[in-house]
Amino acid sequence: MINIAIIGTGGMANTHADSFSKLPGCRLVAACDVDEKRVREFAAKYKIRNVFTSVNDLWKFGKFDAVSNVTPDRFHAPISLAALRHGKHVLCEKPLAVNYPDAAKMARAAKKAGVVNMINFSYRNNSSIHKAHELVRKGALGRILHVEGNYLQSWLTQDAWGEWTTTPGWLWRLSTAHGSRGVLGDVGVHLLDFASYPAGEIASVQCKLKTFHKAPGDKIGEYVLDANDSAVITVEFANGALGSLRTTRLATGYMNSITLAIFGDKGALRIDLDHAGSSLELCQIKNRKCGPWETVDCGVTPSIYKRFLTSIRTGVNDQPDFARGAAIQKALDACEQSDCEGRAILL
Ligand SMILES: NC(=O)c1ccc[n+]([C@@H]2O[C@H](COP(=O)([O-])OP(=O)(O)OC[C@H]3O[C@@H](n4cnc5c(N)ncnc54)[C@H](O)[C@@H]3O)[C@@H](O)[C@H]2O)c1
Repeated sequence: MINIAIIGTGGMANTHADSFSKLPGCRLVAACDVDEKRVREFAAKYKIRNVFTSVNDLWKFGKFDAVSNVTPDRFHAPISLAALRHGKHVLCEKPLAVNYPDAAKMARAAKKAGVVNMINFSYRNNSSIHKAHELVRKGALGRILHVEGNYLQSWLTQDAWGEWTTTPGWLWRLSTAHGSRGVLGDVGVHLLDFASYPAGEIASVQCKLKTFHKAPGDKIGEYVLDANDSAVITVEFANGALGSLRTTRLATGYMNSITLAIFGDKGALRIDLDHAGSSLELCQIKNRKCGPWETVDCGVTPSIYKRFLTSIRTGVNDQPDFARGAAIQKALDACEQSDCEGRAILL
């Protein structure tokens, strides 16, 4: 039986708790949040017996094997590093940290601790991305030439997930002082992983970020609304391919949409998680004639929660691990540097 503690019991923690609750061989034994009312309600909902309002008290309790770190981004590094020091396996939310040096430190500490470490790039739960990775590796597309990806949300222009102006869970995502790296760090991080996992390692990025005026004085209460809302990234991959990745919170009509297309000299593939679910479409060139787009059934991929537990049981750390999280964080830092300096940045 694997005993799990959940740290941070806000919105996303429900997905962690729901997922672990349905899996055999594990149980939720502790919940921790600085908001006492929230953690008590959460613990009651998931029948968790041990409740803490400080991680130090959680470490003193100690009777668990693994943690899910579902706190806001700026707490990922300090809390995950402490968990590693206590010898706990860690599933950490994305982005791994708020900068590459912290993320690299986490990857090193995880390796040294010898425990299972994974980052919740949740779009890896979709089997189509693994099929895309496999098809590219097998050469089904030939030489990879061009990549296009979009991650579109609309919670700033429509009430996709409630009123953002009064919800702390959205407001911290708009404020750099609260540890947010904007849409780039929040969901651009998914897109960078989603695109580069099948298409190949990122060699350089050129990025433009934009923060739009949203409230009088660009401030709501304690939240200064200075984090980016839109990002457009030109990517060069190590294999020579060129890519364009775009993400925004202002894509009216798209609540939470991720799409990817990869073009090679022998074929192309496209993934649309809004419409095609766990399938992808493949178009192959034969005798210089382009075949029709065909739907490829990609089967089922175990969720990251299941893969985390399997990794603990087998001792074989599945992907994406902290090292992968750190590599993507390096690309995020490079995107910000590129926006500041107005030039492409080599990774
Ligand atoms: N992988 C995904 O698809 C996905 C989706 C949504 C959110 N997330 C990530 O999950 C994390 C949490 O997001 P959310 O939407 O649940 O945020 P949220 O604001 O709803 O919840 C965060 C919770 O953490 C608590 N908290 C803050 N500081 C803490 C501390 N020091 N110790 C313990 N608890 C603390 C807050 O009180 C709050 O209850 C973020 O990093 C976000 O990027 C990932």
